[in-house]
Amino acid sequence: MGELSGKRITLGVTGGIAVYKAVELLRLFVKAGADVHVVMTPAATQFVAPLTFRELSFHPVAVDMFVEPKEWLMEHLSLAESGDIMVVAPATVNTLAKLAHGVADNLLCTTLLAVTAPVVLAPAADSHMWLNPITQENVAKLKRLGYHFVGPDSGSLARNIQGVGRMASPEEIYRKVADLLLVGDRRRDDWRGRRVLVTAGPTQEPIDPVRYLTNRSSGKMGYALAEAACRRGAEVTLVSGPVNLAPPAGVRLVRVQTTLEMREAALAAFPEVDVVFGAAAPADYRLAQPYEQKIKRSGNVGGGLALQLVDNPDIIAELGRLKKQQVVVAFAAETENLIENARHKLVQKKADLVVANDVTAPGAGFEVDTNQVYLVYPDGRAEKLDLLPKTEVAEQILDRVLPLCRAAG
Ligand code: PMT
Repeated sequence: MGELSGKRITLGVTGGIAVYKAVELLRLFVKAGADVHVVMTPAATQFVAPLTFRELSFHPVAVDMFVEPKEWLMEHLSLAESGDIMVVAPATVNTLAKLAHGVADNLLCTTLLAVTAPVVLAPAADSHMWLNPITQENVAKLKRLGYHFVGPDSGSLARNIQGVGRMASPEEIYRKVADLLLVGDRRRDDWRGRRVLVTAGPTQEPIDPVRYLTNRSSGKMGYALAEAACRRGAEVTLVSGPVNLAPPAGVRLVRVQTTLEMREAALAAFPEVDVVFGAAAPADYRLAQPYEQKIKRSGNVGGGLALQLVDNPDIIAELGRLKKQQVVVAFAAETENLIENARHKLVQKKADLVVANDVTAPGAGFEVDTNQVYLVYPDGRAEKLDLLPKTEVAEQILDRVLPLCRAAG
């Protein structure tokens, strides 16, 4: 039994000289026990005949949308729905551009748009085409949307020209795909028996009965963590500020408005948990005395308004001081000196790990669906994670924190 036995892979092949390497990639998948279904663009068939892929995959190769299917009911839907993962190798800049713009003018592109499983793209291109800002913009967009990339590498391209654009080796693509498939398996249920507290979202500090102070946190990062921990078997308490998100199924949700309320809910849950993730952005200040009636503009036009603010408690720092067996994971939302400030917060909050995000970086921090974080450890090490959907950032944080819980007992 190979490591991929029981896995179903859809292998997309687009037209470029690297098509011959896709044959070797298919061989690696099949040797590892995967069931592989190949879909080619018409251009790819100019480089290597579908027959080669059919003989190695033991399945008919899909190329044409309008040819009567040999195995599937609706080929693009069947291919899209049944695979555990889709890999496109080589992925030409043309196919990347179509995918980035939702174009579905052949069976492979249609399948790519319909697929819900993870997608790995292994680009192969001439250097100038790869480095063209249009291609780079398409690639950045696809990364933001959660597509996985492997390569391209630098080296010798077609006609011995040196440059960037060479498709990653079949072994490298194989590893990336296998890791994604197997990590999913390993993750199932690995948090069972752990009790987790997540704080998420902003808090709101009343100014008067109609106004409040708040920030841009949407809660997406914290909700992604709560959902992933729950799916992986943990018992999760989610203390959430006001957000527009549906509570993840299975978590115990405690809704709060202010930082003082968040503190109270977190302190109540803390003695019973093994890990706390401080993904919320609680307001650091509140009004010393909120106005009892709506502040009137009339009578004070041009005079401005001074609000007297007082410090809110630092919830995570307080939990850090109180912790016994618990692992405390703080977040750091920074606009400058990311790692240095995160290291400082790690010490100041007695945290076991700090997840640092530069909230001014494109695709990171507040509101967006993606994040790019550094994990800052007590030994000073800073591990950079890729720009990924928050759901996947959450999974990777949970992967790293689980061994810390085991060490803590
Ligand atoms: O909610 P999203 O739109 O998905 O955005 C995600 C996020 C940017 C909010 C998240 O990734 C993040 O960085 N959360 C921490 C935000 C923050 O308040 O950072 P901070 O550096 O000011 O605080 C450091 C740590 O102390 C955080 O764990 C924070 O939750 C905690 N804290 C801060 C203030 C306070 N009064 N009490 C706290 O517990």
